[in-house]
Amino acid sequence: MTILIEHPDFGSQVDDPKVHEETNEMVLDGGFVVPKGISNEAFLAPEVNAFGHGFRDYNAESERQKGVEEFYRLQHINQTYDFVRRLREEYGKLNRMEMSIWECCELLNDVVDDSDPDLDEPQIQHLLQSAEAIRKDYPDEDWLHLTALIHDLGKVLLLPSFGGLPQWAVVGDTFPLGCAFDEANIHHKYFKENPDYNNPAYSTKNGIYSEGCGLNNVMISWGHDDYMYLVAKENGTTLPTAGLFIIRYHSFYPLHKGGAYTHLMNKEDKDNLKWLHVFNKYDLYSKSKVLVDVEEVKPYYLSLIEKYFPAKLRW
Ligand SMILES: [Fe+2]
Ligand SMILES: [Fe+2]
Repeated sequence: MTILIEHPDFGSQVDDPKVHEETNEMVLDGGFVVPKGISNEAFLAPEVNAFGHGFRDYNAESERQKGVEEFYRLQHINQTYDFVRRLREEYGKLNRMEMSIWECCELLNDVVDDSDPDLDEPQIQHLLQSAEAIRKDYPDEDWLHLTALIHDLGKVLLLPSFGGLPQWAVVGDTFPLGCAFDEANIHHKYFKENPDYNNPAYSTKNGIYSEGCGLNNVMISWGHDDYMYLVAKENGTTLPTAGLFIIRYHSFYPLHKGGAYTHLMNKEDKDNLKWLHVFNKYDLYSKSKVLVDVEEVKPYYLSLIEKYFPAKLRW
């Protein structure tokens, strides 16, 4: 079964040119520029993706941009504090399915993002490619390999068996609710139509929070990040907090790329952010590498899953 998603996957800040206009250098998800002639093989920027297509199809680009903008209009209007609170509560029950991490990887494989020109492959390839790339560069950090493997599993929220949430409630950059929307948010203007925008309690810099309160106390827009964090945490994963932080905030581009909202972070967040920066370098890169032989690497990842997760998880 293949489920085609109508809209692009906005899991990264898609208005970000992937090739820097002046230098022609590759820009990775999160705005990391790959310097020319870098020796680290994992960061060699391929000119074509796994299917021989150029990275940017300029004819499709303007149509794509319109789709992106419309996506963020809907996301910014509909993600309110109350909406997020309700969905966290609802999905926090974890009463929809029981399955292993690997079964979820296979389930996500049914989701093919038909309209992302750089991601024609099933999701499991994106998961394994990013995990394998990190494994190569950080061989001793097995928790980071597993974190990469599972970081996007929350996208099952798009599937009918998980409520079939709309794209704007699953993917795209994330941002805090309950305080002012920072200008660093992509297409910031659409927040003016968000009911929270005119709520005085939410419209100051700190809003309902206090300086340095820690991101754990901040309500972030609902999507695949926070859902997978809840799944991992509530099922008692033994992944280190940096792994959970990566899963939970990898789409929080206004923070980890834009440098906004740092006043809400505490010391632990700041430490974990360093690992998130490491992780983000691998997100776009991994969408273009040669296909990973799933059967070959499967035993390694099964051993990691066994190390850090129970055999069956509640979803
Ligand atoms: Fe993601
Ligand atoms: Fe990803």
